[in-house]
Amino acid sequence: MPRNILTAVAWPYANGPRHIGHVAGFGVPSDVFSRYQRLAGNKVLMVSGTDEHGTPITVQADNEGVSPRVLADRYNRVIAEDLQRLGLAYDLFTRTTTRNHYSVTQDLFRQLHANGYVVEKPTLSAISPSTGRTLPDRYIEGTCPICGYDGARGDQCDNCGNQLDPEQLLNPRSRINGETPKFVESQHFFLDLPAFADALGSWLQSRTDWRPNVLKFSMNLVEDLKPRAISRDLDWGVPIPLPGWEDRGDKRLYVWFDAVIGYLSASIEWARRSGDADAWRQWWTEPDAESYYFMGKDNVTFHSVIWPSILLGYDGEGAHGGSPGDLGRLSLPTEVVSSEFLTMEGRKFSSSRSVVIYVRDFLDRYSADALRYYLSAAGPESNDTDFTWSEFVRRNNDELVAAWGNLVNRTLSFTAKNIGTIPSAGDGLTDADRALLATTSAAFETIGADLDRSRVKAAIAETMRVVSEANKYLSDHAPWKLRESDPDRMRVILHTALQAVSDCNTLLAPFLPHTAQQVHALLGRDGVLAPSPELREVDDLDGGPSYPVLTGDYSTAARWGSEPIPVGAEVAPPTPLFAKLDPSVVDEELARMEQGE
Ligand code: MF3
Ligand code: ZN
Repeated sequence: MPRNILTAVAWPYANGPRHIGHVAGFGVPSDVFSRYQRLAGNKVLMVSGTDEHGTPITVQADNEGVSPRVLADRYNRVIAEDLQRLGLAYDLFTRTTTRNHYSVTQDLFRQLHANGYVVEKPTLSAISPSTGRTLPDRYIEGTCPICGYDGARGDQCDNCGNQLDPEQLLNPRSRINGETPKFVESQHFFLDLPAFADALGSWLQSRTDWRPNVLKFSMNLVEDLKPRAISRDLDWGVPIPLPGWEDRGDKRLYVWFDAVIGYLSASIEWARRSGDADAWRQWWTEPDAESYYFMGKDNVTFHSVIWPSILLGYDGEGAHGGSPGDLGRLSLPTEVVSSEFLTMEGRKFSSSRSVVIYVRDFLDRYSADALRYYLSAAGPESNDTDFTWSEFVRRNNDELVAAWGNLVNRTLSFTAKNIGTIPSAGDGLTDADRALLATTSAAFETIGADLDRSRVKAAIAETMRVVSEANKYLSDHAPWKLRESDPDRMRVILHTALQAVSDCNTLLAPFLPHTAQQVHALLGRDGVLAPSPELREVDDLDGGPSYPVLTGDYSTAARWGSEPIPVGAEVAPPTPLFAKLDPSVVDEELARMEQGE
């Protein structure tokens, strides 16, 4: 029975181009997972979009001297293009400024309010004494009242991970000009998180197979819940859908409240565009559906506390009871799959200090599959991990080029030159041939089990181990020595090697979609093994401005498993799949980084 799998990918802020640290956390792992699940025959819905509200956007819009709308339009497009080039196969990559998103967000708010989980109360809000303007939370810095860390921000402490309100900071100061903010009273809406403590606790208790650090972190958060503000003094965001508030220019829903709802609104948008407006339900209201949320660790709170609380409140399953809204009872996440941080040459990514490499610049110089390979093999899956150029060059040259590229290249070019078509093995398979084929076909199960648990690193390591066995087989059996002496045996060896290449290529397809599709065709196969996302300009479904989305038809006849190679199909000599990088790349890239500073 195919499983319904929602891949919910964190929404990048549309406040600048994304760097490789971002796509290491949310992008590549979620795409590898989804591509595997599709090949395994499951029904995947992979959604995300750009996160376009709140102070992350308004602050950068001020910096660039444009309106928030212009800024969001600018970077929504840049990000969508970059993710497309990276081959991230979203069923829908949309944005949070669509009319559909506004109305789904407001529906959820209203139901939470009707069920009694939204409380209104006065709160302190920071203003800049010199300008009189509201000072955004993340532009206030001070000492964390919980762990004592001095660089805590007004919304969150990056040291202990706790969410904060700006007035909780000790020694608060403006990051813009250092002045001490003034706190004035203002009415706001709060999500009654303590009302979900029991429900969240028992849900987390049942999540025994999460990555241990994510589960432990989440359980700690649930120990100490306080009502959480979900509105802000801001003019850029989703209006508060209550009489007397809706038309106010100075109050909006908090960006994180609307952003997490994006998973649901994007699923609904996808369904509306598919022609079956209810199709999203297969991933949200069917009891057997599964949902996996991919992100970096600074997003865990929002996915293991805030979003589940919104869902529980909508469903009427917190301490105040209530009933589900019109969409029906919505499911909580199956798993919050969080990765750790990527650093860059030993330092924290920082665009202001140019310790950064943007996805776009990376892809202008190196291939998407080279980056995907590196991030799969050496990404921050469960530990903070450092990206270095020397390691990138080494893995590219030793693993992609020398191991996999070379296996494909020598097998195919030798076959093309000496036979021209895929040879049959007849009844000539020896024990050694059978042993290799047993290894490659058995690998689908073990590697599939890793990918099903989003253990991308273990999966690629095992795949490369199988590739090296195939290389060893080829060297040991050296078909090039048999051209004259034993052409029949040579054909059997090539058949075996080509079948192994085909199997390895399917195993690699989730990681290396661009080259996997090329190899698929080189092996004389039709159709699509590793589909590509397309960037398409669409009309807003409800009359708003048009915008670009990523989408695609990812249905494929290819299957996760060993498929017999098409004996007799023509084999053309391959062009190299991967470029070998000169070691001087390391110094060039490091110099580029220094110059930027
Ligand atoms: N924009 C946030 C960030 O970059 C992530 C939002 S994930 C969401 O940290 F799902 F909540 F949107
Ligand atoms: Zn702290």
